[in-house]
Amino acid sequence: MASITLQNLVKKFGETVTAVAGVDLDVSDGEFMVVVGPSGCGKTTTLNMISGFEEPTSGSIMIGERVVTHLEPGDRGLGMVFQDLALFPHMTVFENIAFGMRVDKTADAEVKERVSKVATTMKISHLLSKKPAQCSGGEAQRVALARTIVTEPQVLLMDEPLSSLDAKLRIEMRTELKRLHEELKSTFLYVTHDQAEAMTMADRIMVMESGYVQQIDTPLGIYRKPTNQFVGTFFGQPTMNVVSGRIDNGGAPRFVSEYFELSIEPDAVPASATGKAINLGVRSENVTIGNEGAAGEVKLIEPLGDETLVFFSSGDEEFLVAKVDAEREFGPGDKIHFAFQSSAIHFFDAESGVRLE
Ligand SMILES: Nc1ncnc2c1ncn2[C@@H]1O[C@H](COP(=O)(O)OP(=O)(O)O)[C@@H](O)[C@H]1O
Ligand SMILES: [Mg+2]
Repeated sequence: MASITLQNLVKKFGETVTAVAGVDLDVSDGEFMVVVGPSGCGKTTTLNMISGFEEPTSGSIMIGERVVTHLEPGDRGLGMVFQDLALFPHMTVFENIAFGMRVDKTADAEVKERVSKVATTMKISHLLSKKPAQCSGGEAQRVALARTIVTEPQVLLMDEPLSSLDAKLRIEMRTELKRLHEELKSTFLYVTHDQAEAMTMADRIMVMESGYVQQIDTPLGIYRKPTNQFVGTFFGQPTMNVVSGRIDNGGAPRFVSEYFELSIEPDAVPASATGKAINLGVRSENVTIGNEGAAGEVKLIEPLGDETLVFFSSGDEEFLVAKVDAEREFGPGDKIHFAFQSSAIHFFDAESGVRLE
C-alpha cells in the first residue's frame, strides 16, 4: 500500500510567512495526483514536507499505514525527481542510473539487468554509454526519471520536472509520464504551475493558492465546476471571460452589465445569484457569435488552425473572446452579435469570488 494522507499540514517560516496553511489530502494507492497553483502558493513546501526535507510546523503525514511525519527522507520509501536534475556529469548514463545500487553494493549482474530494464521503459537504451552533457534536454530528463524509477519506489514525487524543457518536448513528456504511470502503477504526486500539465496528466488535481487548498477534483470536475473565480480563471486557455454585473429577474432573467445585457434561461440561474453583485464567467467555447444577442465589434483574430479566437468588445469597454469554427471568417471592425450558452455560465459572488449554486 502506498497511499498518501496529509492531515492539517502547516508550514510557517518564522513569524510572518505561512507557506502551507493547513492542507488535507488523500492520495490513493496508484493515483496520479497533480498539485497545481501559481508560483509561491506552497507547492514545493508541501512536497518537501512529504519527502522529509522540510519539518512541518504542525499536522501529520502518512504513507500507506505508516505515520512518517518525523522520519528521515531515506526511511520514507519515496522516489524524487526535481526541476534541477542533478545528474553526475563525469559518469555515464549507465552509472548515473546504477549509482544507488552501487552504493548498496548490489551484485553486477543485477545492476546490469535492472538498468537495462528501466532503460527500455524510458527509451534510453542507446544512451547508456554517453555522458549527461551529450544528452539533449529531454534525454537528460528521461535519465533522471530512470535513476529514480530503478529504485522501484512505491511513491514518486516530482517537482516541476519538465519546466526546463522547450514547449514541444514538454508536451511529449506529458504523454510519456502518463504512459509510465500506467506501466508502473505506483502513486505519483506531481507539482506544477502549468494548468495544462495538470489537466492532461492528472487523475485528480489539488489547486492551491496562498498556502490554501482551493479545490480537489478530477480535471473535468474542476474545469466544469470551479469552486471559485480563482480556479475558474486559472484553468483553460484562453482565460475564462469574466464580466461583472447583476441578474435582473423581472420577467425572463437577464444578465445586466455596464455595457451589455443578455437573457439567460431561467433554469441556469442559481437562486443565490439574484439581488447582488456577481461576476459572470463563461469560457470562450461557450460564447456564440450569430444573429442574436448583444452587439459587439471584432477587435482582433487569432487563428489556431482548427479553431479561431475572436476577440471583441461590447459597448466601450468589455473585452471578450469567443472560440469559433475556423471555417467562419471574421476581421477587425466586423459588427457582430454574441450570446452565452446558458448551461455553461458560471456565477461567482463579486466580493468573495465563491461559486454560486
Ligand atoms: N526556506 C524558506 N524561508 C522562508 N520562506 C520560504 C522558504 N521556502 C519557501 N518560502 C516561502 O513560502 C511560500 C511558498 O513557497 P513554495 O512552496 O516554494 O511555493 P511554490 O513551490 O508553490 O512556488 C513562498 O512565499 C516562499 O517565498
Ligand atoms: Mg516550487
